Amino acid sequence: AAVASTAAARRAAVIVAHRGASAYAPENTIAAFRLAARQGADRFELDVRQTRDGRLVLMHDATLTRTTNAERVLPGRAPWRVRDLTLAQIRKVDAGSWFAARYRGERVPTLGEVLRAMRGRGMGLLLEIKDPARQPGIEARVAAELRRDPFWLAPGRLTVQSFDWVSMRRFHRLLPRVPIGLLGTPAPARLAGLARFADQINVPYRHLGAAYVRRVHRLHMQVLAWTVDDPRAIRRLLSYRVDGIITNRPRAGIAAARWG
Ligand code: G3P
Ligand code: CA
Repeated sequence: AAVASTAAARRAAVIVAHRGASAYAPENTIAAFRLAARQGADRFELDVRQTRDGRLVLMHDATLTRTTNAERVLPGRAPWRVRDLTLAQIRKVDAGSWFAARYRGERVPTLGEVLRAMRGRGMGLLLEIKDPARQPGIEARVAAELRRDPFWLAPGRLTVQSFDWVSMRRFHRLLPRVPIGLLGTPAPARLAGLARFADQINVPYRHLGAAYVRRVHRLHMQVLAWTVDDPRAIRRLLSYRVDGIITNRPRAGIAAARWG
C-alpha cells in the first residue's frame, strides 16, 4: 500500500510534512500545505475534528486557544472547544497571526476545502482523525467527504491514521481500499492481528529500533517515524529502513534523506 512517488524513489523514504510545513507556516492551514508542496514534500499530514454542527475542520488541539485568536473574536471564555462551536463561529477566527503577522487572514480550513485546494499538486495525504471516541460519527463523515472527492481515493494518494485503532478498524470497513495507519507503538505480539486491516505503523521516533521495523516489514506493513526535524536522527531512522519520515521541516528532511 505504498504511496507511489517519483521523487520518493530518488530518496530512501517518503517525506511527510507534519501539519504542513509547520516549522515555517501556521500548522493545518492551506498556506502550510502549499509551502510543503513548494519544499518538495511527498505527502502532507493534517488533523481532522468535527464541529458542533457536524462539519469537518482542521485543528490539532481539541480547542482553538493555542492556534487562533478566538479570545478576541468569539464570545465566552477559553477553552474554545471545536466540538462546542459551529463552523460559522470557527470561520470567524484567524488561524495565522498567532504564528507570524504575515499569515494574518489564514482561516481554519474545512477538510473539503483542503481536498480541493491540494488536489493535483503532486503530494499524497496522511489524514489523521483526532479523538474519534469523543466525536461519534466522524469516521463516516470523513469517508463521505472522500467519496465526494474521488481524486484522493485513487491508489497511492491517501492514508488515514489515528491513535484510536478501533476507530481505524471501523474506517477500514467503510472504505476498505484506503490504506490505514496506526499511531503509536503496538506491542510486537499485537502486530499480526493489526496487520489484518492496517498498512502502516506510525511510531514516535524515539521508540523506534531496527528490530521493530523488521517485525513490521515481515507483516508487509510500513513504518513511518514522527515527528523528526533533526537531520542526524533522520539519518539514524533511515539506517533502520523506515519507509517515511514525518517532519515539520520538509526541506531539511529531504536533504537528510537523499541517497548517498
Ligand atoms: O503524524 C504523526 C503525528 O501527527 C501524531 O501526533 O500530536 O502531532 O497529531 P500529533
Ligand atoms: Ca497529527
